[in-house]
Amino acid sequence: MDNPFVYGEVVPDDAFVDREAELDRLVSDLGNGQKVFLISPRRYGKSSLIRQALIALRRRGALTIETTVSSYSSYLAFLEGYARAIAASESKWERARTWLTEALASTRPEVRYEPKDTGLGRLSVAFPLVTTGRELNRLANDVFALPGKLAADRKRTVVVALDEFQAIDSFNGGSVEHALRGAAQHQRQVGYVFAGSEPSLMEKMIGPRRPFYKAGPVMRLQKISATVFGDFIEQRFMKTGMKPEPALAEAIIELASNLPYDVQRLAHETWDDVRSKGGRKVTLEDLHGTLTRLLSEQETIFEALWQRLTLQQRATLRAVVLQGGRDIHSADARERHRLGAPSSTQAALAALAKQDVLLKEASRYVVVDSLFREWVARRTF
Ligand SMILES: Nc1ncnc2c1ncn2[C@@H]1O[C@H](COP(=O)(O)OP(=O)(O)OP(=O)(O)O)[C@@H](O)[C@H]1O
Ligand SMILES: [Mg+2]
Repeated sequence: MDNPFVYGEVVPDDAFVDREAELDRLVSDLGNGQKVFLISPRRYGKSSLIRQALIALRRRGALTIETTVSSYSSYLAFLEGYARAIAASESKWERARTWLTEALASTRPEVRYEPKDTGLGRLSVAFPLVTTGRELNRLANDVFALPGKLAADRKRTVVVALDEFQAIDSFNGGSVEHALRGAAQHQRQVGYVFAGSEPSLMEKMIGPRRPFYKAGPVMRLQKISATVFGDFIEQRFMKTGMKPEPALAEAIIELASNLPYDVQRLAHETWDDVRSKGGRKVTLEDLHGTLTRLLSEQETIFEALWQRLTLQQRATLRAVVLQGGRDIHSADARERHRLGAPSSTQAALAALAKQDVLLKEASRYVVVDSLFREWVARRTF
């Protein structure tokens, strides 16, 4: 029997929990050609939500295009990958090649079909003639116009998902944002979702004086409701023939600070451990056994992460962990954890957030990785 819990990848349909309101809104906004910004901290479920939305939109007849901006090593590589993703919405590869070659005639793209040993091969797109910065900018304008042309040529709604969109910032300063915004705003038949997992970068990008200011609705993804997630965990254990102790699901959610990724990870690993000892009952003790195993497996990584922190950052992080993220700035906390001047605590908190170790949630700081939090609590002094 397969493990019913999934983490570390976009969740398949049957492991996808809740998000009904978000999904409805995203599907209808994108179907109406809106330019949506989807923002949340890492691992909240943006990519999974987008996947579901695109499935729904395809069912309604839209052509969908998906790419992850952060996976490219240069601006040119991004434009090649993006052009390929756009062309690939045409399922017959010969037609895809003809369409793209005509649409980008002036840059003479090389469009090839790369067969694979199993299953369908894929298109590859290269722009060997583009070498100077000016040519690159011209190419960008042409590529960014493609979704609009696709919508017009095929007479279909087109939806584009650009995931890890904050990475666009590193390509070519502000000019990429400008060109993309300029192109997108004229494409009434094309919905865009720009998803990003560095909230501060993304918020800046939609701020005043930036090209995407007021370009469209902003969705800030929250955590999944703890009760809904808890029920899901319990049911999935039961469906696979296991008997979770009544307090188990809640304990998993609590331990994971209800971060979707961490919830699924703990549930998945606990399921595996119980399964491999041939058990059916799942107890809190099993959960803690699994936690201990995971902590020792991650020991080297956590050790290295800890070593990279300055002493002030270590003290601040320990304070956050031991205080449950609250009242870090109180005189009492400062004294108890020997934090020194408030300004150095502030600087350490900012540095920890920048390194993706901490995250500010309303008035509270949380450690992003709940295993690392447990490790700090148990193994550091
Ligand atoms: N709706 C959901 N139902 C169940 N599990 C979810 C859901 N959304 C996210 N998860 C869990 O969180 C993990 C991360 O989800 P996903 O990759 O979609 O998040 P993300 O916000 O795109 O993350 P990243 O910032 O790393 O790109 C998934 O592998 C899954 O374990
Ligand atoms: Mg993602």
